[in-house]
Amino acid sequence: MATIIPVASFDCVVFGATGDLTTRKLLPALYYRYKDGQIPGTSRIIGASRSEMSADAFRERARDALKRFVPARDLVEDKLGAFLDHLDYVAVDGAGDDGWEDLSAKLAERPDQVRPYYLATSPDLYGSICRNLSVHGLIGEKSRVVLEKPIGKDLKSARAINDAVGEVFPEEQIFRIDHYLGKETVQNLLALRFANTIFERLWTADVIDHVQITVGETVGVEGRAGYYDTSGALRDMVQNHLLQLLCLMAMESPLTLDANSVRDEKLKVLRALKPITPHDVQSVTVRGQYAAGAVDGKPVQGYRADLGGETESRTETFVALKLEVQSWRWAGVPFYIRTGKRLPQKLSEIVVQFRASPFSIFPAESFGREPNRLVIRLQPEEGIKLEVMTKDPGPGGMRLRPTNLDISFEETFKQRYPDAYERLLMDVVRGNATLFMRRDEVEVAWAWADSLLKAWADRPEPPRAYPAGSWGPTAAIALIERDGRTWHEEVH
Ligand code: BG6
Repeated sequence: MATIIPVASFDCVVFGATGDLTTRKLLPALYYRYKDGQIPGTSRIIGASRSEMSADAFRERARDALKRFVPARDLVEDKLGAFLDHLDYVAVDGAGDDGWEDLSAKLAERPDQVRPYYLATSPDLYGSICRNLSVHGLIGEKSRVVLEKPIGKDLKSARAINDAVGEVFPEEQIFRIDHYLGKETVQNLLALRFANTIFERLWTADVIDHVQITVGETVGVEGRAGYYDTSGALRDMVQNHLLQLLCLMAMESPLTLDANSVRDEKLKVLRALKPITPHDVQSVTVRGQYAAGAVDGKPVQGYRADLGGETESRTETFVALKLEVQSWRWAGVPFYIRTGKRLPQKLSEIVVQFRASPFSIFPAESFGREPNRLVIRLQPEEGIKLEVMTKDPGPGGMRLRPTNLDISFEETFKQRYPDAYERLLMDVVRGNATLFMRRDEVEVAWAWADSLLKAWADRPEPPRAYPAGSWGPTAAIALIERDGRTWHEEVH
C-alpha cells in the first residue's frame, strides 16, 4: 500500500468550476484524494464561475461528473456523499466586479486555511482574476495560484500572462501545471536515472545512439476544435509535454530534489536545444493533419470535417521532429519526437536506443544482431522494458535472440496508478513546486517554439494529410529512416 500523508487543511477555489477540466479531471482527482484520507475534513473546494447556481446545484453537477468520470467500483456512496459535503460554490465574474465580496466573505470564515486558487479558465482571464484577488485582499502567505496551460500562444503572450500574474503573486506561489509531470512514470524517470547507477553511467553519447519520444492519441479534436485550431500540435503538446519529457531524459543530475534544483537543470536542456532555422525546417520537421480514416476499427472523419467543414485550416494535428541538445553529454545524439491526434494507439513512450556492440564474436548466421533498447512506457501499461540479447535455449549451437526484461508497474505494485492531477493538486497544497514549471522554463520553451512556428508560417506548403488511424504522414517515417533508423512500433 502507498503511504498517504494528509496535507494541511485548505480552501481550494476553482475558477472555471463548470468547465471541462474541472468536471473531467479536478473533481475526480480531489474525490480520490478525499477517499484515500489525504484531505482533512475541514477543507473546502469552492467552485467559482459566472453562472448563478446554489451550492446544492453545484454538488449535484459534481455528483454527475464523478459518476461519469470515476469508475463505479471506486465510487463508494458514503465517501461520495461526504466528499460532496465539502463542496461549496460562489458566482464570481473573473473579469468584472460581481461576486468578489461573496467570495471574500466565504474565505474569511476560515482565515488560516491554505488557499490554492486554481485557474481552470481561459488564459485571457488569468490577469484579471489575479488582480481581483489582490484588490480584495485575498492573497496571503498561504495562497497559491495554479495556472493551467496554455500559458500563452507564443513568447509575447506568455510574458504578458506571467507579468500580470507576477504583479500580485511571488514566483514561489505560482504553480504552472504541466500534467505530464504528475504522471507516475514521468516521475519514475527521475528514479530510474538518479537512483540506479547502471543507467546513469550509460546515459551518454558514447553509448546511446538516439532517443525517441512518442505521444500518440487516438482521439481527434473532440469538442475543442475552436481552441485547437488556433493552437495545433506544436503549441498544444510539444512546447510543454514533449519538451518536459525531453528535459527529464536529457538533464544532468540536480543537486537535490528541491524545486529550483530540478528546474535549473531542465532549463539548461531547454537552453541547449538547437533552434530550428528556416534552412533546416524541411529536413528535420514534419507537420501533418489527419484526413478521414479508421481508428479502433471505426470510420472517423478528417480534421477539417471535425472543424465543421472548414477547408482552409493549416493547423497541424501531427508533428515529428529531429532535435539536437547542444551539450557535451548529448553531442551527436538525435532526439526524434512525434505526437499526433487520430493515431492508431494511445501510447506515450520514451525509447533509448543504445549503440550496437563494436564487434561481434558470434558467427553472422547465428542471429539477427540487435543493439539494446530501453523502452520506458508512460501510458498505458506503465513500465520499463530492457531488450537484451540472450542465447536461444537448446543444444542447437550458439544462436542468439532478443528477449525483454520487462517490468509492469501495476503488476509489480498491485495498486491503482493515480491520475496526474491527484499528485499535482496535493503538491500545490503542500507548496512543493518541483513538478511545476518555472517562468523562465515556459518562456525559453516558447522562444524555441516561436522560431519553428515562424519557419513553418513562412513556408508555402500546408501540413501533409495522413489517414486517421496511421502513424502520421509517410514523411515522418522518412525523417528517421533517412538516418538509417526506424520508429519503435509495437502493438500493446
Ligand atoms: C492536453 C492537450 O494538455 O493533453 C490535449 O491539450 C491532449 O490535446 C492531452 O489530449 C493529452 O493528455 P493525456 O494525459 O491524455 O496524455
